[in-house]
Amino acid sequence: MSKTYNIAVIPGDGTGPEVVAEGIKVLDAVSNKAGFKLNYTNFDFGGERYLKTGEVLPENAVEELNKFDAIYLGAIGHPDVKPGILEKGILLKLRFELDQYINLRPVKLYPGVDCPIKDKGPEDIDFVVVRENTEGLYAGAGGTLKKGTQDEVAIQESINTRKGVERCIRYAFEYCKKRNKGKTLTLCGKTNVLTFAFDLWERTFYEVAKEYPDIKAEYAHVDAITMWFVKNPEWFDVIVTDNMFGDIITDLGAMIQGGMGIAAGGNLNPEGVSMFEPIGGSAPKYKGQNKINPLAAICAAGIMLEHLGEEKSGKEIEQAVMKVTANDIKSLAAGQMGLTTTEAGDLVVKYVTES
Ligand code: IPM
Ligand code: MN
Repeated sequence: MSKTYNIAVIPGDGTGPEVVAEGIKVLDAVSNKAGFKLNYTNFDFGGERYLKTGEVLPENAVEELNKFDAIYLGAIGHPDVKPGILEKGILLKLRFELDQYINLRPVKLYPGVDCPIKDKGPEDIDFVVVRENTEGLYAGAGGTLKKGTQDEVAIQESINTRKGVERCIRYAFEYCKKRNKGKTLTLCGKTNVLTFAFDLWERTFYEVAKEYPDIKAEYAHVDAITMWFVKNPEWFDVIVTDNMFGDIITDLGAMIQGGMGIAAGGNLNPEGVSMFEPIGGSAPKYKGQNKINPLAAICAAGIMLEHLGEEKSGKEIEQAVMKVTANDIKSLAAGQMGLTTTEAGDLVVKYVTES
């Protein structure tokens, strides 16, 4: 009997539904070919639903989503909703409640993609950031006092637990071992200033490193990392870091791999339900125009299949995307692809079918 996976789909806002539709087209093509089945169940979470009902996420959303094998997400963010409501109420809430403690973000320059760094090519830019995804400054600890007065106080605390830090670091070592490329894991921190949080990170990192004698364990400050992403991106193999630094350096990572049109990632709970998404936002100005680049969402679908254990099909998606970047697409930017959204999706389908 062929294997079946139940996928919860959250197309979300703006161009989310358009890129998710292309991702599903590609998923159907590879799964047909490989002989497994994907069942999709749609959830209408996002800005439209919130504006209509006043509800960001229904009460039972987490319980419902927990029944699936994976979640495929388009984009969250709506121009008529105050920033923060949907991001915190949907995206961050799901990451936290589903305990997706890893945010895995590959940074890979595909052939044919314009790189903003002079003289760097696909052989130089191929690393993965393992971002802690449930703690740090994102935990929401803090508060305000005397708000709106001259005496106002605002506190935002970074929460780092031994358990949370250790499980993230362990995942990163295992991932680096399995990837088997540069066999180097770099801890990205700020031990010279954040002397409490990164002391815990650094001690844990070197303790766990003893269990991985084949992996080179290195440390770099986050500010230096941003410099080296631009100057020497070829130095990196796998990087592990906290939630906030991971958020920031992966946007820089996305730019050196060709921008938001291609950057994808997974919010992983290795013991539970994981959620896969293009890193870019909902791009409302391109909504409904068939102009948005679907490749990031298609890559997210590929990462999802690899995570589900369909590694060959996941790789096939990536290979097909690489053919599109090498042969067909003029630019990765929305409206400048020389292709429509659906044409780009069709090409990926064509290449996976041929391969
Ligand atoms: C990301 C995004 C989110 C984050 C926002 C939308 C809350 O920037 O996935 O990187 O900060 O994690
Ligand atoms: Mn971000």
